[in-house]
Amino acid sequence: MKIILSLLLIVFSIVGIVDSSYITYEKFSESVSDCGVGSECGTVLNSEWSNIGPIPLSLLGFAFYSSLFILSILNYIEFDLKSQLEKVCNKLSFKKTSIFRQITIQELILVATIFGALFSGYLVFLMVIVINAWCKYCLISAFTSLTLFAISSTYYLKYQKNSPFLIKQVTLSIIHFLYVTIIKKLFFLFDAELIHNLLTSTGKTLGSNKISQFLTTTFFSFNHSNLEKRIDGITFKNPVGLSAGFDYNGELTGILPSVGFGFHTIGTVTYEAYEGNTKPRLGRYLKSKSLLVNKGFKSLGAKVIAKKLTGLNFSIPTGISIGSTNKHYNSSEDQIKDILKTFTIFEKSKVKHQYYELNISCPNTFGGQPFTTLDKLKLLLNSLEKLNISKPIYVKMPIDQSNKETLLMLQIINKYNIAGVIFGNLTKDKSNPDVDPADLKAWKLAKGNLSGKPTWKRSNKLVKLTRKNFKKRFTIIGSGGIFTGENAVKKINDGADLVQLITGMIFEGPQVIGQINLRLSLCRLSTKTPKW
Ligand SMILES: Cc1cc2nc3c(=O)[nH]c(=O)nc-3n(C[C@H](O)[C@H](O)[C@H](O)COP(=O)(O)O)c2cc1C
Repeated sequence: MKIILSLLLIVFSIVGIVDSSYITYEKFSESVSDCGVGSECGTVLNSEWSNIGPIPLSLLGFAFYSSLFILSILNYIEFDLKSQLEKVCNKLSFKKTSIFRQITIQELILVATIFGALFSGYLVFLMVIVINAWCKYCLISAFTSLTLFAISSTYYLKYQKNSPFLIKQVTLSIIHFLYVTIIKKLFFLFDAELIHNLLTSTGKTLGSNKISQFLTTTFFSFNHSNLEKRIDGITFKNPVGLSAGFDYNGELTGILPSVGFGFHTIGTVTYEAYEGNTKPRLGRYLKSKSLLVNKGFKSLGAKVIAKKLTGLNFSIPTGISIGSTNKHYNSSEDQIKDILKTFTIFEKSKVKHQYYELNISCPNTFGGQPFTTLDKLKLLLNSLEKLNISKPIYVKMPIDQSNKETLLMLQIINKYNIAGVIFGNLTKDKSNPDVDPADLKAWKLAKGNLSGKPTWKRSNKLVKLTRKNFKKRFTIIGSGGIFTGENAVKKINDGADLVQLITGMIFEGPQVIGQINLRLSLCRLSTKTPKW
């Protein structure tokens, strides 16, 4: 099939060359023929639209098909354009991450044929609507370029495993521009929770059929084999995940892989259903690039969520974040029992999740963060150990503890069968210098805790601290303030194996996942860092 498609590209390029040569010949010669003055074809070829400046369009067509012919031959002989470009880039000392060196022949052919098909469409429009005459040779050319586009896109979709760097970068930049200049401004006019609910129901619809999944993948996700990593027995397609708190009832499993996420956490799920804290539960601090969160574990409850997820096949690793039901407990033992009941439900269920997050750090639930004190943490982990959980558990850590307090917690966690830690959750620190003074004033009057940029520096420091002190003992997931590819590179270079985000996606748009992965992939190709 591959050979047939490669040969078809060559054959149709030749058809294009022959056809455009003939039209050019007709254009320049005085001979009376099919395309002579007075014929339909002549009307088109002698019209004011048939030249760009002094150059006849047919001559440009000839150049186009000839270039395509050369590219198709190079594609057929599997010419390695990337290594040739690499050499040229090195000679010209282009930046190490230069995107140009990643271009493949197939990508060039695809770009050329997209352009050819669009331009042919424009010419047919001129012929039919503006000039009102039919030139059969021009129609042959239009048919040829359309066929070339069909062949090259089929070839591309079938045989190019990695996303096209150049096309993806341009597409993602356009979507980013549209998002920040129009869509975000519109969204931010309305209540944050209302928009979140709207996005969840849209995502659910888009994830429920193959066509919208395919289109979302085409426009948003960036895939490359160099992004894949196997950690704790789980294969992550890429290291960028959705943090707990966005898809708290597990409704977006169909669409998140298409958006480009490499993994996805559902929850935080609690044993009992909970309506959420009183409204407003979600706010935006634009200057601080942060969200004010006061959800308090809004959840349909573990049994309902487990039932909803049973039978679903997740195409990326999916985890369940578990926390205690948001209510008053008479004792820590009671609160632990509540957490264990949720673990038991998922352990006994047929849900195909691959990991758990143990959320001990939500700052906006009743009673605060009891399991961040050492004796209660021990009590919780002792009880959890007895359940013999079958999947890796990552502990979602607080970020407002001091380094000393964090290290003490990690020393305890180290003694249990815990695969990794996530740094970290929301900040409740009102002395945080990264909160804008105007936002701080509003925050002091509001209920809730902050995500986004105010969590960035502290989360990085804790990732670094853990990696330094515990080497490879823990899988480290970096979460907090990732808005760009550069941010993800920094977290990974600080020691994170994987990263997660929510707020960056709200402020920069859903294409940011693809942009981050593209950046990480380029880094891997050029400098071999970040290391994972
Ligand atoms: C709206 C919202 C809800 C959240 N809910 C949870 C949650 O239920 N469980 C949890 O572990 N973290 C929750 N978080 C914290 C995030 O998972 C993440 O750790 C934090 O927002 C920092 O990442 P970010 O800056 O990329 O948003 C929530 C965050 C946001 C913005």
